[in-house]
Amino acid sequence: MGGINTAKLKEQAAHRAVEFVQSGMIVGLGHGSTALYAVRRIAELIRSRVLQNIRGVPCSRQVFEDARRLGIPLTTLNRNPIIDLTIDGADEVDGSLNLIKGGGGALLREKIVAQASLCEIIIVDESKMSEVLGTRCAVPVEVAPFGWKTHIFSLEKLGADVKSRRNSDEKLFRTDQGNVILDANFGPINDPAKLAADLKARAGVLEHGLFIGIATDVIVAGKGGMRHIERD
Ligand code: A5P
Repeated sequence: MGGINTAKLKEQAAHRAVEFVQSGMIVGLGHGSTALYAVRRIAELIRSRVLQNIRGVPCSRQVFEDARRLGIPLTTLNRNPIIDLTIDGADEVDGSLNLIKGGGGALLREKIVAQASLCEIIIVDESKMSEVLGTRCAVPVEVAPFGWKTHIFSLEKLGADVKSRRNSDEKLFRTDQGNVILDANFGPINDPAKLAADLKARAGVLEHGLFIGIATDVIVAGKGGMRHIERD
């Protein structure tokens, strides 16, 4: 009994990441329960005027709503195409700072924002760490609605067990762009860069949740303390 629960660990990682936010920055605001702690903390520091002249770029409609409600001034990638620092969560992280993201369905905007960021800080609790990507979760693949079922077969050919993502009422889940997500379970992925290239090679596949070489930093909160892993 007792000890630090997962929510607390997520909050600790988020608060540590927010220490890197400085006044005047354009900040990417990630999607998911862990990133929400960072959004709340940034809002708190703006309210207390510790942080000034911050503008946020939300990674999803949900985060746009949350950030607006919390009073974070927002901008768009078109107005500010270079982001100083983004703080986002992940579903699985390996020792080379490669990730699986998209459990929350926001992978396309998250990847666009991440690639526009000078610094991409990923915040996770220790349960998200894995030796080999694919051990803990499936790879979300965002596909165009036109002929979406055809991708099930091509993903199966690549070795995945595939499920179309559904809402709790069993209706097809739609992303912020109106697309469909196929959760492709490959099991442990020995060559994530090769798989990423194979996935992108097919028309109609708009994005996938493998984030290879994108994160600059990972902050891992565990029961034994916090670790900050930086890209070399
Ligand atoms: C959103 O699409 C995802 O990439 C999230 O970053 C990921 O699912 C982590 O979410 P939690 O912080 O809620 O675990």
